[in-house]
Amino acid sequence: MGLKRTVSIIGTGSYVPEKVLTNHDLEEMVDTNDEWIFSRTGMRERHIAADDQATSDLGAEAAKKALADAGVKAEEVDLIIVATLSPDMFFPSTACFVQEKIGAKNAFCYDLGAACSGFLFALECGKNQILAGAAKTVLVIGAEKMSAFLDWEDRTTCVLFGDGAGAVVLQSRGDEHGVMDAVMGSDGSLADLLCTPGCGSRNPASPAVLEQRMQYITMQGRDVFKHAVSRMGKSVVLALEKNQVSIDDIKCFIPHQANSRIIDAIGRRLGISDRIYLDVAKYANTSSAAIAIALDEAVNEGVIQKGDLFVMTVFGGGFTWGANVVEWCK
Ligand code: ACO
Repeated sequence: MGLKRTVSIIGTGSYVPEKVLTNHDLEEMVDTNDEWIFSRTGMRERHIAADDQATSDLGAEAAKKALADAGVKAEEVDLIIVATLSPDMFFPSTACFVQEKIGAKNAFCYDLGAACSGFLFALECGKNQILAGAAKTVLVIGAEKMSAFLDWEDRTTCVLFGDGAGAVVLQSRGDEHGVMDAVMGSDGSLADLLCTPGCGSRNPASPAVLEQRMQYITMQGRDVFKHAVSRMGKSVVLALEKNQVSIDDIKCFIPHQANSRIIDAIGRRLGISDRIYLDVAKYANTSSAAIAIALDEAVNEGVIQKGDLFVMTVFGGGFTWGANVVEWCK
């Protein structure tokens, strides 16, 4: 008799580059100050990749740690999914570059684009590939070099983001629950509120596009704030309903680390403020890497232990959003 087909996270890893950029450092670069940034976002500092580090370099470091944590060799991995909005290149996929760097020569590889929601979407994809029998060992990575896509002259965006990567290894080990069902959604009618408008096929690279600084991330902050609170809050409730789990049984909530005020608002709305994991002060918003880094830290700090249920919830450009419930099985 075979094992019951469930999928579990069997290892986690994360990596942030060495260089730290504090709010005070930003004061020297744009017209801003530590008080403004901290009071509106909860951020104190962020990590910035070196010039010779690309997104795949960050992802590969996180992946190596996750594989070591899982006790799995790179050759055993048969699928790598990288969630990113800051790929090394348009093609080949960042996942292919990660594959080469870690020596996962038996894996097939692709990237997934769901902006800041990417890691949760990729986790669901990886889980379903295993459930469908198409893969046995999946490496899911959220990796971002946001600093390469920020307008360092625009104080409304450049202070909000950081670089980093997080990874998990998935396998079916016959655990009872593991990664439970996710709810996910998208609304393309709101795409313009958070996007990088230039240097794709809509507005190909040209002197005019570069002059208008369209190669950088743009955002309508207040609209994003409103939708993020509403969508993440509702997603958590729906994910709990879908998995028939009571909110009281959740040990820890890991929300997308976009901004502590968004997270506070969700915490108050759902009455879960004391169980939210928050690391935005150290890393700022690392987009698709954010919940992956937070998960790795929460596990390493013992916040999440074997048998605990936790919820991840995300929101990002697209708009995209979602939540899932996971039982920690390690
Ligand atoms: N330093 C100092 N002043 C600033 C800065 C800055 N870095 N940025 C903007 N300001 C100024 C503005 O110019 C404006 O000045 P004005 O009144 O003279 O015009 C003033 O501060 C207020 O600007 P608002 O944009 O209204 O500020 P708000 O209180 O809304 O805070 C923020 C802005 C932090 C971006 C907020 O809207 C927010 O948190 N939005 C959520 C967006 C988010 O988290 N995005 C992350 C990416 S999306 C994701 O990951 C889900």
